[in-house]
Amino acid sequence: MYYNHIMLMKAPASLSVFVCLYVICILLEVLVLNVAQTQAQATTAPNEVKALNALYEKWGISANQNQWNISGEPCSGAAIDDSISIGTDGYNPFIKCDCSYNNKTLCHITEMQVYSLQVDGVIPDELWSLNFLTNLNVGLNLLSVPLSPSVSNLTAIKYLNFGINTLSGQLPKELGTLPELTVLYMDSSGVSGEIPSTFANLRNLESVWAFDIELTGRIPDFIGNWSNLKSL
Ligand SMILES: *[C@@H]1O[C@H](CO)[C@@H](O)[C@H](O)[C@H]1NC(C)=O
Ligand SMILES: *[C@@H]1O[C@H](CO)[C@@H](O)[C@H](O)[C@H]1NC(C)=O
Ligand SMILES: *[C@@H]1O[C@H](CO)[C@@H](O)[C@H](O)[C@H]1NC(C)=O
Ligand SMILES: *[C@@H]1O[C@H](CO)[C@@H](O)[C@H](O)[C@H]1NC(C)=O
Repeated sequence: MYYNHIMLMKAPASLSVFVCLYVICILLEVLVLNVAQTQAQATTAPNEVKALNALYEKWGISANQNQWNISGEPCSGAAIDDSISIGTDGYNPFIKCDCSYNNKTLCHITEMQVYSLQVDGVIPDELWSLNFLTNLNVGLNLLSVPLSPSVSNLTAIKYLNFGINTLSGQLPKELGTLPELTVLYMDSSGVSGEIPSTFANLRNLESVWAFDIELTGRIPDFIGNWSNLKSL
């Protein structure tokens, strides 16, 4: 067919006009498709954008904008690319998002890693407003001060790692109100004191890492009720 078309062309000039129009048509089509895709792109919950930006600013870190937070949209690029996960080499700090909300127009931040980045000082309150987090890893930093009772806001959290830090104070009893908590990593975190009685509720715990922290008191009986526990 295409060959016949060309045969019909009389002069080389009209051939190039034809090819030119053809190319413009394709370009326009690609452009229109792109615009449609951009419009369909889900956006991050505005309160989470604010919280994330404030948190990272206070910690003196920021996204590598070639990877994610592209043009100020945190849930973009690698953060919504299923082939890249938390822990993939070269992505740190990093977040992952779930953009399936509100008919795929709204994203929530579900995972965050700020691992071994020499982040020091407090844990800003903004962290506790990211209440869709299922995975939070702030291990191997220089975070101080006690862990805030507001940790109870992270009601979806499954994997929590604040190990190897310079935290102080006791384990907040609010940690025991996190119904999904499965892995708790607090080796060398600096926390101390007794295991709060609220921990009796943590029936989904599979592993608890508590090496090199000063826990006092006896090992509570309710640990026998952590029926999924595989390592302590
Ligand atoms: C994301 O990008 C915006 C705009 O470039 C910037 O203001 C903000 O601090 C960045 N946030 C993070 C978490 O890197
Ligand atoms: C969800 O989005 C799709 C595609 O944009 C649309 O066809 C559908 O009507 C939407 N559903 C609701 C409940 O808004
Ligand atoms: C914890 O969650 C409550 C209810 O969503 C919210 O009002 C509060 O501001 C949150 N706390 C922090 C420190 O973000
Ligand atoms: C273990 O769970 C059972 C059933 O919920 C409860 O009756 C019991 O008090 C729990 N044991 C401890 C030591 O908390």
